[in-house]
Amino acid sequence: MRTPMIAGNWKMHKTLAEARELVTGIREGMGEMTGVEVLICPPVYLLFPMAKAIAGTPILMGAQNAHEEAQGAFTGETSVAMLKDTGATHVILGHSERRHVFGETNATLAKKVRAAVSGGLCAVYCVGETLEERESGRTQAVVEAQLRAVLGADVPAERLVIAYEPVWAIGTGKTATPDQAQEVHTFVRGLLGSIYDGPTGDGLRILYGGSVKPANSGDLLSQPDIDGALVGGACLVAADFLAIIGAGASQAAAAS
Ligand code: 13P
Repeated sequence: MRTPMIAGNWKMHKTLAEARELVTGIREGMGEMTGVEVLICPPVYLLFPMAKAIAGTPILMGAQNAHEEAQGAFTGETSVAMLKDTGATHVILGHSERRHVFGETNATLAKKVRAAVSGGLCAVYCVGETLEERESGRTQAVVEAQLRAVLGADVPAERLVIAYEPVWAIGTGKTATPDQAQEVHTFVRGLLGSIYDGPTGDGLRILYGGSVKPANSGDLLSQPDIDGALVGGACLVAADFLAIIGAGASQAAAAS
């Protein structure tokens, strides 16, 4: 069975005081919830204090980006080793905002994913099509190119989580329907089976992201190939994030 993961991508939100309040709310609200992995991905400047805030809890912490080089003259960037120093165990790579706002390509992401996994982090590798790509029937081709260009035998599956985030559903309030999401997740799982092998593809977690909210999380997470959520806006409010974590925990309980 795949353990559901509920990941919160804080993007460029939260001052230190706000972050402390949010994490306290999540920590206290999680109580005895089991069977679900919870990952917070704060902005890089908050990684050290948030590591302290989650110490002794099952909450995991990841970064939102990493540079592919180990060190050097790369103003404003952060290396994998630096992220590891903070206590981060995961890093989101290939988020649509990195691809579309900052121009990251599959070729760069292939390097970043390798740097992350060889440096000991788990990569949460994001894929997804734009509205124009979906409407022109290219969803599968785009997602396939994003996966094939970046994954391979030298990217160990145990250090990998996939997130399918249709670009048109991010921050727009438009969620993919559970059927639309499940259809792409099945396709992604098949591709993972062909890049790795069937059992490996079956074991990999594929998260859905794009306007996940408490109201739609139950339906999305009950789909057979949706193994969790990568949450943006709703992860910034403890009660909302907790409700989505609760949906993940219910899913885990139903599957066990
Ligand atoms: P929203 O949940 O705000 O649509 O953001 C999704 C996302 O980009 C998570 O990485």
